[in-house]
Amino acid sequence: MNDFRLNRRDFIKRAGVATAAAAFPLSVVELAFGAAQDKFTFAHISDAHIQHVKGTEFVRNWDRGLIRAVAEANLLTPKPDFVMFGGDLAQLGTKEELDHGAEMLSRLRHKTYCVMGEHDYYLDLGEYWSKLFGPHYYSFDHKGVHFVVLNSILTYDEWTYNRWPTARQRMLEMAGLDNPNGSPFMVGEKQREWLRADLARVAKTTPIVLFSHSPIQKLYKGWNFWTEDAEQVQALLKPFPTVTVIYGHVHQIQYNQVGNITFHSVMATAWPWPYPQSYAQAEHAMPKLTVPMNRADPFFERDATGWQFIDMDTGRVMMDYNLYNNTSRVVAYNPATRQPEDRVYQDPSKRIPPQDHY
Ligand SMILES: [Fe+2]
Ligand SMILES: [Fe+2]
Repeated sequence: MNDFRLNRRDFIKRAGVATAAAAFPLSVVELAFGAAQDKFTFAHISDAHIQHVKGTEFVRNWDRGLIRAVAEANLLTPKPDFVMFGGDLAQLGTKEELDHGAEMLSRLRHKTYCVMGEHDYYLDLGEYWSKLFGPHYYSFDHKGVHFVVLNSILTYDEWTYNRWPTARQRMLEMAGLDNPNGSPFMVGEKQREWLRADLARVAKTTPIVLFSHSPIQKLYKGWNFWTEDAEQVQALLKPFPTVTVIYGHVHQIQYNQVGNITFHSVMATAWPWPYPQSYAQAEHAMPKLTVPMNRADPFFERDATGWQFIDMDTGRVMMDYNLYNNTSRVVAYNPATRQPEDRVYQDPSKRIPPQDHY
């Protein structure tokens, strides 16, 4: 805890904002690439998985996670310039779930952007989601940063359009883990072409922040912690020296560095996934996670759900995790090794198994 407190003080000092010492059930991102007046924050909430039971009944725990995150976002000081919702608003993509989730998100007193998740998409291929939230992929510029939102959960047309007798079955097949009937996520050629044209208009010195639902890297295929055309998307981002990809979907802490791109996940408001054991299996790890990561403990029910502050003051991400049931952690970009690191964890003598705190 002491290490964390020091880091927290440093964070507040460096950020130069009156960030409350209390934690928030969402991600707060601060960016300042230019003059002091350009400094700004945004918040990120992800993976609410609002689940319809029957009538007006929804799974209460998932509702509570999102309600709490929205309430905390509304209390943030300084006020974030916008809120990003990272996908999987619904559990099975129904109108009831999307309407209920949208109603909760509408309580946000900030401009809100949304990313498409597979649980939002595979019932009606994003049709109703579009009515609520707009296009599936887009970009915008904000105070010197180019933000890109991709729909990274598409897959092969044959799987999407021809394989399943009903839309509901298609949704259920894509919702499962370790499902041999599933299909790997991808951004797809059409969207990659759009991204190529979009980035062609952006100066190479501009910091890029890309939001996706699945990681734009290949971590674990069985759970679709995977994007089939990740390398092709990464290649489009290569000319830009400062690129950060922020994604949801994995419901756990992940960070990685691939070339010029720093990857960070955001935690879910619904539930945590354990780390897949098969990370250790080389055939699933393309590329391997290049940075030794601290591990949240899958045996704690709520571990890897909680809050994270993301400070991008230097153009690089510093993640400040406040976990419900585990030691708080800071993961920051280390210019010496050029990768994000939990500095405490990099020193093996200081590695403390989470359960030792109980
Ligand atoms: Fe999810
Ligand atoms: Fe997902």
